[in-house]
Amino acid sequence: MTITVPEGNGQPRPGDGDAPIMGALPETWPDLLQLWRPRDLWLFLSKVAFRKTGRVVLPAGLRLNVALPAYVLLEFHNLPNGNYSKRITRGYSRGFDRVMLGEMRRGRAALAQTLKHCTRVADMGCGDGSSTAALKAAGVGQVLGIDASPYLLSHAKNSYPELSFQQGLAERTLLPPSSLDGISACYLFHELPPPAAEQALQEFARVLRPGGRLSLLEPSDMQFVAGPRELWRKFGWRGLYFRALAHFVNEPFVRAWHARKIEQWLCANEFELLDDQSLFPSRLIVAQRR
Ligand SMILES: C[S@@+](CC[C@H](N)C(=O)[O-])C[C@H]1O[C@@H](n2cnc3c(N)ncnc32)[C@H](O)[C@@H]1O
Repeated sequence: MTITVPEGNGQPRPGDGDAPIMGALPETWPDLLQLWRPRDLWLFLSKVAFRKTGRVVLPAGLRLNVALPAYVLLEFHNLPNGNYSKRITRGYSRGFDRVMLGEMRRGRAALAQTLKHCTRVADMGCGDGSSTAALKAAGVGQVLGIDASPYLLSHAKNSYPELSFQQGLAERTLLPPSSLDGISACYLFHELPPPAAEQALQEFARVLRPGGRLSLLEPSDMQFVAGPRELWRKFGWRGLYFRALAHFVNEPFVRAWHARKIEQWLCANEFELLDDQSLFPSRLIVAQRR
């Protein structure tokens, strides 16, 4: 892997961030739950089923390449301690595809096809590495998965030891300018508050070479804008299922994402829109760096 991350900038060295990915990460409070105990079971269910979500508590001693902003430390998807535990993130990464009825596999493969001609691609918000692996399977030369959560990255590294992963932020990748010819972001942007989405897109423009490609897969806005009758007519029970799911899980910034005028936004940030298509329950957006 030769996509390199520069040292310095007042940050810990890149290798510092790799150590916890490979080795032991500190446990967080959900790792200590004993679900046969009524109190612990209630705590778990209060998040997952009753949506009493709050803020993530990071353990002492968690080493990071890039410090985490407050918005990342919310309990997304009703997960106890969000993306920051060993145990819950393992269950989440196994369950995500199932809950999405196999649509994530289809979406990631379609996303990867749009970047298959690229030689150096970063997969921003790579999570457990499934989207990064799809890029490699499509034929991309070098892929680097970047994610905020060292816990998700540890699953990525375990599942795909041949691929490279780095703790970092989409809005602060630490990659050199013009060092990539492709960027993929699979189900990332709808998790960012608008100022962070703005910064991330500017960062992508910085690290992509002119002519480089940016491909995004995000949830379709139809789950919010179309009524149940229309979704039933177009997609049958799956339409209703994805609508219910979208309204159930904690996604604090998803409506702000859907409100965005994608073409104008890309255009204002050095990108030109090439394609914007529905892959219900997802939406595939392809752009080119000017
Ligand atoms: C819904 S998951 C998608 C994971 C993966 N791309 C997939 O296809 O399954 C969103 C991921 O984005 C990560 N994330 C959220 N905000 C981020 C940021 N600002 N920079 C990097 N990763 C971020 C989360 O940790 C999480 O792993």
